[in-house]
Amino acid sequence: MSGEEKVVCVTGASGYIASWLVKLLLQRGYTVKATVRDTKDLKKTEHLLALDGAKERLKLFKANLLDEGSFDSAVDGCQGVFHTASPVFITASDPQLWYVLSKTLAEEAAWKFAEENGIDLVAINPGLVIGPLIQPTLGFSLETVLKLVKDAGTEVFPDGMCILVDVRDVANAHIQAFEIPAASGRYCINAKVIHYFEVFKILHGLYPTFNLLEKCEDDKPLLPAYKISQDKAESLGISFVPLEVSLRDTMESFKEYGFLTI
Ligand SMILES: NC(=O)c1ccc[n+]([C@@H]2O[C@H](COP(=O)([O-])OP(=O)(O)OC[C@H]3O[C@@H](n4cnc5c(N)ncnc54)[C@H](OP(=O)(O)O)[C@@H]3O)[C@@H](O)[C@H]2O)c1
Repeated sequence: MSGEEKVVCVTGASGYIASWLVKLLLQRGYTVKATVRDTKDLKKTEHLLALDGAKERLKLFKANLLDEGSFDSAVDGCQGVFHTASPVFITASDPQLWYVLSKTLAEEAAWKFAEENGIDLVAINPGLVIGPLIQPTLGFSLETVLKLVKDAGTEVFPDGMCILVDVRDVANAHIQAFEIPAASGRYCINAKVIHYFEVFKILHGLYPTFNLLEKCEDDKPLLPAYKISQDKAESLGISFVPLEVSLRDTMESFKEYGFLTI
């Protein structure tokens, strides 16, 4: 990358991952053109405007994916675009299925568009993103974790696995993928594949007084564990935040923003 001023765009900047991305980009000296749907909604923008460097190098733009051309002024003049904005409609009968389908189709369309238009595209595919919040609202991943943790005091869970990764690693991976010229293709950014009950065990170790049931609903053999290669992620220089730290920081954010009392 050349030139004195490094200008990039972050779409959906008020989101969970994007807020961390904006924070780290400002820390690294970038000028950030950040899109939100409503520039006047303080709940979505105040935490961004309070970041170090924001006064000098953060510019907010109003843009909606459903309005053709509304991103043009934000993207104009940028050396790179971090596209995280994602409309999620949850009115369908199986929202999870539609979400996965929408992400698959969106990525396919992005690769086709990039090829046809000579754009250097890199895709970052994280698992369930956890870790500290820097905004007062929950995205879908922390809503899922919060529900899981709250229900874990009263329900015994079926056996199941989750793929977890810290939001700081995900934001960092985006920037590394942009800055490292050799970065290309798709990157799975996942710290750990783990059984739910093991997550509850770690949480119980961290918060012994917090009521969590740590077992599955039946005594059948557990689903076989599997791993996802971290080689490609490590080629971006990512050394993952330990899961215990991510879980503790998630819970501390839940407490700090009043979503949970422990
Ligand atoms: N969190 C995870 O576990 C996870 C895992 C894998 C992939 N991802 C993907 O990573 C991206 C960011 O996730 P996140 O958890 O940070 O999401 P998030 O906190 O829910 O943020 C998503 C952002 O998308 C914006 N948005 C929604 N509809 C929009 C529209 N029609 N036009 C423009 N912007 C719109 C929202 O902006 P406003 O605030 O302005 O309304 C919101 O800030 C998404 O593409 C998500 O699918 C997330």
